[in-house]
Amino acid sequence: MERYAEPTRQEFEGWEEFYSKPADEKLDSFIQDGRIYDVIYAQQFDREFLDYLCNLAENIRHLAKTKVGQIKLRHLLPHKRAMLYFVQPSTRTFLSFQNACYVLGLSVSEIRGITTSSEVKGESQEDTIRTFASYVDLIIARHPEAGFAEKTAWVLNQTVRPVPVLNGGSGPDQHPTQALLDIYTLEREFRDMGGLDGKTIAMVGDLKRGRTVRSLSYLMKNYEDVTLYYAAPQVFRMKDDIKGFLEKHGISYHETEDFQSIMPLVDAIYMTRIQNEYSEDPSSAAETFPEFHFKKEHLARIQPHCAILHPLPRRYEIEVSVDKDPRAAYWRQERCGMWIRAALIAYIFRVDHEITDEFS
Ligand code: NCD
Repeated sequence: MERYAEPTRQEFEGWEEFYSKPADEKLDSFIQDGRIYDVIYAQQFDREFLDYLCNLAENIRHLAKTKVGQIKLRHLLPHKRAMLYFVQPSTRTFLSFQNACYVLGLSVSEIRGITTSSEVKGESQEDTIRTFASYVDLIIARHPEAGFAEKTAWVLNQTVRPVPVLNGGSGPDQHPTQALLDIYTLEREFRDMGGLDGKTIAMVGDLKRGRTVRSLSYLMKNYEDVTLYYAAPQVFRMKDDIKGFLEKHGISYHETEDFQSIMPLVDAIYMTRIQNEYSEDPSSAAETFPEFHFKKEHLARIQPHCAILHPLPRRYEIEVSVDKDPRAAYWRQERCGMWIRAALIAYIFRVDHEITDEFS
């Protein structure tokens, strides 16, 4: 690839100061008229919002079962255009957002790599961001840099043409819409057992750099009596910022390197992939940490109702033969992503009542 120039590092004045503040001091910046406008971190969601969005996703899913329902949904936002700026690999998040847009009638444009964006010519991120907002009504961004989606929202909120920004994954930091679909999946898996309240959940694998488990951990403050088990190799233990958050909110958690011993104790197991893309040493991909894999023989160790989740993509962490067991929830989880993202977009554009009214 021909390299034109290093991207310009001309930060907008005030960004560094804003970015350095703790998330809970910044939540108001992403709200408009009392409603969430930009979705940047999982800390933005409270229980009322999560319950509302899960219900809205169920409604959309129900409507989409018929042609008449699908046409109704597609007439909700045909006047809106979305931009998918995904400059980090993605299959599920990209496709589920794109199809969530189609479900609601939005048109979609995309950039899928920094090499095809003017960032490579040396355009500053700020100018790239402003350019998107010149053409579309919604920006959905995945970027290898931790603060990119937040910066996008922050920059646009100071311009005359702000548009909502959804974080589709910000480096190793957060993946708030994945956390939404994980919650939606867990609530569905436990719908005959009182939902997620009172449940014990194991998160397994690369907890240090796995943005999905970080965002999901933040959401646990919204549920009663949840207990977490973090099962990770020593080098990939959950970071202190999340553990501090759990302690502050009185959420009980345990750390272990003995995954097998906790298998019988939990109601859900959330498996993750080792995030080699963030390693300095490329040979680290060869290390697979087999003690943190879920194998067919482990099915006999877990509870009859235990749900097995994985944000996917999977490599070797879950044996393929596990897929046939009804407790393997990850393919259902993947599909939940499209419905909850459609619910989120409907909420952002305030057409959610047109959906819920169908069911009242
Ligand atoms: C995850 C991600 O990108 O963080 N994938 C996803 O969005 N479904 C998990 C991963 O890549 O391991």
